[in-house]
Formats: sequence, structure tokens, C-alpha cells
Amino acid sequence: MIIWLIGLSGAGKSTIANLLYNDLKLRHSNLVYLDGDNLRDVWGDQLGHTVDARNKNAHRISHLCQLMDQQEIHAIAAVLSIFPDWQRWNRENFRSYFEIFLDTPMDVLKARDSKGLYASAARGKTDNVVGVDIPFPRPANADLTISGDAVMEKPSVIAERILRVLPHPLKTLT
Ligand SMILES: Nc1ncnc2c1ncn2[C@@H]1O[C@H](COP(=O)(O)OP(=O)(O)OP(=O)(O)O)[C@@H](O)[C@H]1O
Ligand SMILES: [Mg+2]
Repeated sequence: MIIWLIGLSGAGKSTIANLLYNDLKLRHSNLVYLDGDNLRDVWGDQLGHTVDARNKNAHRISHLCQLMDQQEIHAIAAVLSIFPDWQRWNRENFRSYFEIFLDTPMDVLKARDSKGLYASAARGKTDNVVGVDIPFPRPANADLTISGDAVMEKPSVIAERILRVLPHPLKTLT
């Protein structure tokens, strides 16, 4: 199964993905964690963040996940994801796909701003920021959307919520 976490920068994808990974790995050794940021280092080609570059990155990540899925390797992918077409491709091409949207409000993202991205964009120093000068199409077909009060809970509470609804074969036994 490919578990795909979507959300804007600062939404909590990496934080939640880590928690999910640490829990699920105890019972599923054939599980890998693929973080969009780490994968950019893996490709090593200074891809950049334009829409075209993001499309190329999406192509690579989806195809890598497909390879894993075909070999019965489970993956948690934490990827910003701005292309509904790639999300559709995922659903059509993975044997099993569970998409989660962390719908964290923009004012919260700007307050967190862990990478300084939104402040830098506001000063005109950074472009190609999704949610600022690159539109973010909200995932329309996520299997689970975490929004409102739920997305403001502690990361551990959000991870628990996800673990409770994950379908077989990754469903927790507790
Ligand atoms: N539910 C939450 N409540 C409070 N703080 C959170 C929550 N989730 C994440 N954070 C904090 O917000 C910051 C951003 O989280 P994280 O790095 O996981 O986001 P991300 O979606 O992976 O962003 P990026 O796309 O930039 O990698 C971190 O400092 C993290 O500790
Ligand atoms: Mg991250």
C-alpha cells in the first residue's frame, strides 16, 4: 500500500509521516518512508521549485512508488502534491493507495513558517511558493481529509486518527 500525505509547506506531512512510520514499521518491516525533501537530495540534480520542476518531481515520486508497490513494499510518501493528474495516476496505477490531506489553514502555516518560506515570499525574496504564487488545488478525492479542529490537534493525536482508519493490510492490530 502507498500512503500519500498531501498538504502545504508546514502542514505537518513530515511530522505525521514519521509518527506513522515509527508505529507501522514495528509490524511491517517492508515499509519505507519517502519524503519529498529527502528525495530531492536523492535525485541530486537541483530540480528547483517551478511548476515544471514540481511536475518532474511528481513523475519521479509516483513512478518510484509504483516500483515499490509492484514489489509489495509499502510506502509512506510525504509530498506537497499540486497535480490532480498525478493523484489520479496514483490511484489508477498503485494496487493499493490511501491519500490523506492535511488541510492546515494558511494563517497557521504562516505562523509556523518553519522554513521561513512564507515570510520570505511576503518580502518578495522567494517565488514559486505553493499557496502564495503557485496555486494549490485542494485534493478532491482524498481518502481522509483532516481539517478544522482535527488538524489543530497534536501530531500524535492526528497520527492515531490516521492509524485507526487505515485499511487492510496496514491497519493496526490494536
Ligand atoms: N499538528 C501540529 N501541531 C502543531 N505543530 C505542528 C503540527 N504538525 C506539525 N507541526 C510543526 O509544524 C512544523 C512544520 O511541520 P512539517 O515539517 O511536518 O511540515 P511539512 O508539511 O512536512 O512541510 P514541508 O512541505 O515544508 O516539508 C514543524 O515545526 C512541526 O513540528
Ligand atoms: Mg516536510
